[in-house]
Amino acid sequence: MKIAPDIDDVMLGEICDVCVKRARGMICTNTTIERPFATTEAGGLSGAPLMAPSTSILERVRKRVGLSLPLIGVGGVFTTADVRAKFASGANLVQVYTGFIYKGPLMARHLAFDC
Ligand SMILES: Cc1cc2nc3c(=O)[nH]c(=O)nc-3n(C[C@H](O)[C@H](O)[C@H](O)COP(=O)(O)O)c2cc1C
Repeated sequence: MKIAPDIDDVMLGEICDVCVKRARGMICTNTTIERPFATTEAGGLSGAPLMAPSTSILERVRKRVGLSLPLIGVGGVFTTADVRAKFASGANLVQVYTGFIYKGPLMARHLAFDC
């Protein structure tokens, strides 16, 4: 189950409880509809501004589900520090999307070797 970063604690708790019963894992998170800066563009925002909110959701999900589910941390990962922050917040695996656009395919190798 992949979740959005734009959900409150009540909804997050309900989603986690359903996932513990019915899902094989959770991906935290998809893009955000929040805008940390002024813009009129629509759609999901990915990349660096997503690192903090998606990592916060990941941390809260790990607290809620305990060790019952594997978690994939995704959102705003560009550096080894970002990867470590995802693992420290409860991720079993880390996914990169936008980072590839800026850093290219060798990014995965650099992150894996430096971590
Ligand atoms: C252009 C684009 C297309 C995406 N398409 C999907 C999709 O089809 N399904 C999905 O679950 N997530 C999709 N995502 C979300 C990414 O998988 C990822 O969760 C999100 O972008 C946060 O990671 P990032 O900051 O590394 O990009 C898409 C993201 C982008 C930028």
